[in-house]
Amino acid sequence: MSPHLNEWLNLILRWMHLLAGIAWIGSSFFFVWLDNRLEAPKEHKPDVEGELWMVHSGGFYLVEKHLIKPGWIPEKLHWFKWEATFTWITGFFLLGVVYYMGGAVYLIHPEASLHRHAIMAIGLLMLPVAWLVYDLLWKYVFAAQAKIGAMVSFVLATGLAFGLSHILSGRALFIHIGAMFGTLMVANVWMRILPAQQQMLDATQRGETPDYNKGKQAKQRSMHNNYMTLPVLFMMISNHFPSTYGQDLNWLVLAGMILVGAGIRHFMNVQNTFSRFSFAAAVAGAFALFFYTAPASPPAAQNNNSQNAMAAETVDFQTVQTIMHNRCVSCHSSNPTDDVFKTAPQGAIFETPEQIKNYAQLIKSRSVDTQTMPLGNKTGMTLEERQLLGQWIAQGAVIPEQMP
Ligand code: HEC
Repeated sequence: MSPHLNEWLNLILRWMHLLAGIAWIGSSFFFVWLDNRLEAPKEHKPDVEGELWMVHSGGFYLVEKHLIKPGWIPEKLHWFKWEATFTWITGFFLLGVVYYMGGAVYLIHPEASLHRHAIMAIGLLMLPVAWLVYDLLWKYVFAAQAKIGAMVSFVLATGLAFGLSHILSGRALFIHIGAMFGTLMVANVWMRILPAQQQMLDATQRGETPDYNKGKQAKQRSMHNNYMTLPVLFMMISNHFPSTYGQDLNWLVLAGMILVGAGIRHFMNVQNTFSRFSFAAAVAGAFALFFYTAPASPPAAQNNNSQNAMAAETVDFQTVQTIMHNRCVSCHSSNPTDDVFKTAPQGAIFETPEQIKNYAQLIKSRSVDTQTMPLGNKTGMTLEERQLLGQWIAQGAVIPEQMP
C-alpha cells in the first residue's frame, strides 16, 4: 500500500474511532451521572424509581427511571449499542493499519526473539482469549466476590502486560492492552448486558415479572466497563508520551496508570470516605509515576569531578553528526531511504547542524532518555552512541558556528 493511502486510511479510521468513542463514553458517563442524581418522584408514581429535570439547548426534559411492568413494554425503545460496536470496529482496523501493515514497524520489540508473524498472531489472538478468561472467571468464580475478582483481574492484566512487554514495542504494548480492555468492554455490552436486557423485556412481554437478578449481573459488567474507561482513554493517547511507554519497566508504569484511572473514576462514581481516599491515592500515584518516569540525570552531571569530566570528554559535533547520519537520517531526512518511511516522520529532519540543534531536547527525550528512537532500533544504535548524544546535549548542544 502506498504511504499516502496508508496515511489517509489512518486518518479516516482515527477520525471515526474518535467520534464513535466520544459518543460511547459520553453516553456511558451521562447514564452514570443520571443514575446518581435521580430523586424519588414528588407525586405518587408507583412504577417510577426516580426522576429528574434537565435543561439543555433551550429545552426542558423530564426523565423518569421505570421498572417495567409485566405485560407492557414501550412501543419504541432506544438502545445504546452501536456506539460501542462502531468504536471497536474502527479501532480494530486502525490497529491493523498502524501496527500490522507496512511491515509491522511499530509493533515489535527490538530484542524480541520470536518471528514477526508469531508476534502478530499473539497480538491478535490475545484479544478473544482474554475475553474468554475474563468472562469465565466472572461468571463462575467472582460473580459474588467482586473485590477479590477485581484484584485478581488487575493482577492478570498486569501479568499479560509483563509478558507482552518482551515481544511488543512499548507503544504497541500500551495500545494492545487498551485494545484488550476495549474488547472486554464491547463483549460485555453484546454478550452480557444486551442479552440480559432482552431477556427481561421478553419476560415482561410474556406477562411475567422479569428476573431483576439478570439486571444486576448486567450491572456488574457495566460497572467493569465504567472502571475501564479512564485507563483505556489513557492507553489510547499514550503513544504521545514516550516517557511512559519508553521505560524499561513500561508494563509497571502501565499498571500504575490503570490504577490511577480507576481510582479517579471511583471518585467520579461515588462520594464517600473511601472514594476520597481513592482520589488522593490516584493523585499521589500520578505524582509517583511522574518522578519514576523522569529521565536519569546525564552521565556528566553524575560525576563528582564533573568539571574535569566535562572538560575531558567534550563531545565534538562531528561525532554527533556521524551518529545522526548513521542512525537517524535514513528516516529523518528530506528524502528518506528507509523502506517504509518515504517522508520524514513528524516532519523531523536531522540533516543540518541547526536542525539537529533545534531538535536537541526531543532527540534527548527519544533516543537517550527513553530509547524509543530509532524506531524499533532499526538502524542498530548502540548504547555508547546514545551516551555520546546525551553528553553533547548536556554540554549545551554546541554546533560548529557557535564554537569559540
Ligand atoms: C525507521 C525509521 C526511523 C529512524 C531510523 C529514526 N526514527 Fe525518529 N521517528 C520515526 C517515526 C515513525 C516517528 C514518529 C512516531 C513517533 O513519534 O514515535 C519518529 C519521531 C521522532 C521524533 C519525534 C519528533 C516530534 O516532532 O515529535 C524524534 C525526536 C525522533 N524521531 C528522533 C530520532 C533520532 C534521534 C533518531 C536516530 C537516533 C531517529 N529518530 C531514528 C522513525 C524513525
